[in-house]
Amino acid sequence: MSGPSTYVPKSAIGRWFESRLPIMGLIHSSFVVYPTPRNLNYWWTFGGILSVMLMVQIITGIVLVMHYTPHVDYAFNSIELIMRDVNWGWMLRYTHANGASMFFVAVYIHMLRGLYYGSYKAPREVLWILGVIIYLLMMATGFMGYVLPWGQMSFWGATVITNLFSAVPLVGEAITTWLWGGYSVDNPTLNRFFSLHYLLPFMIAGVVVLHVWALHVVGQNNPDGVEVKNVARDTLPFTPYATIKDGFAMICFMLFFAWWIFYVPNYLGHADNYIEANPLSTPAHIVPEWYYLPFYAILRAVPSKLGGVVAMFSAILVLCFLPWLDTSRVRSAKYRPVYKVFFWLFVASAVGLGYLGAMPAEGGYVLASRLLAVYYFAFFLIVMPLLGLFETPHPVPASIADAVLKSTHSAKA
Ligand code: HEM
Repeated sequence: MSGPSTYVPKSAIGRWFESRLPIMGLIHSSFVVYPTPRNLNYWWTFGGILSVMLMVQIITGIVLVMHYTPHVDYAFNSIELIMRDVNWGWMLRYTHANGASMFFVAVYIHMLRGLYYGSYKAPREVLWILGVIIYLLMMATGFMGYVLPWGQMSFWGATVITNLFSAVPLVGEAITTWLWGGYSVDNPTLNRFFSLHYLLPFMIAGVVVLHVWALHVVGQNNPDGVEVKNVARDTLPFTPYATIKDGFAMICFMLFFAWWIFYVPNYLGHADNYIEANPLSTPAHIVPEWYYLPFYAILRAVPSKLGGVVAMFSAILVLCFLPWLDTSRVRSAKYRPVYKVFFWLFVASAVGLGYLGAMPAEGGYVLASRLLAVYYFAFFLIVMPLLGLFETPHPVPASIADAVLKSTHSAKA
């Protein structure tokens, strides 16, 4: 049975404790009897996968720090020491470095799921915006983490990105000096990035708690985008149904993750980061990690530096306004034939921008970046508001149970 918690501890000591701090009741109502829409598909397992990835990053990070030295003279060598001399150090480091990439794979799937099924729409606006805050924190954490090995890409990536702030009128130079803790990327920069790289994952964990709290207040969306009407017909208890499904998905994702660690651990990295940072020698191409590439392409698509910076940050901040930009009455793309096409074009444009972000900023690449950047913004600012007014959606099922029974019948037919 799913519904509000009826949890009563069996032992007397359990009842004594529960009447003072009802934590077991909270866990029971949130993860045991919590009513879960019965039509959820595997795209709904990525929130759980992300929670596991956050834990993996925090645990491997804490152990790595036991052997890492945040100083420009020692950082690079301390990483080599971890790789060669620390027991299982190579595995810790490869898990953490590839873990960052896997975390972003999972978060992009999680976000696109939300975009496809309209999970950002009322009443889930706060839940969605908390997600965008998590995403921004993840980006900041990843960026600062990449600086820590103090390789060539660490140093030059940090130099390019921190320099962007100098484009801000009047106070730009002051902001950059403040970020650096000096007049260039140097030891004070490495130290503060280290400190923040350690702090931010805990802030992410805090925002995740709010995210899941907000989720449990409004309830989960689902592939059909209709709200739960009858708890008994439309939902199943979280345990065992969602726990087993989430557990299975987590194991599959961990196998995929392990493949990167054990077979191609350096594929997602950059060879230049195995050369110690040298402020006197600039690499031929300064390329960020793959998960920043679409935004890097947008940055470079705009001819003015300030314009590029504004476009890049707007590309993320525009997400906060989706609940109000999307005017459609229907939530899920399953019932929105035209939106579905624009959605896939959006995915293609984001992938295209990612490819262009890794190419040199010249000739046809810049032109293509401009076109795709225009589509990126047009999708949110033009397609979403207008399509809701003009599109004729397919009929939406009256309830989740109806949707499930309909698909069961058509599968049998
Ligand atoms: C560390 C990162 C994150 C964690 C641990 C996390 C965790 C979760 C969990 C456990 C759920 C419920 C299960 C599910 O629907 O998959 C969820 C749902 C959701 N998340 Fe996240 N999340 C993260 C990042 C994000 C981001 C970056 C966004 C969007 C920008 C986002 C938006 C949403 C939305 C809209 C839902 C509700 C989905 C629905 O019910 O249809 N989350 N999240």
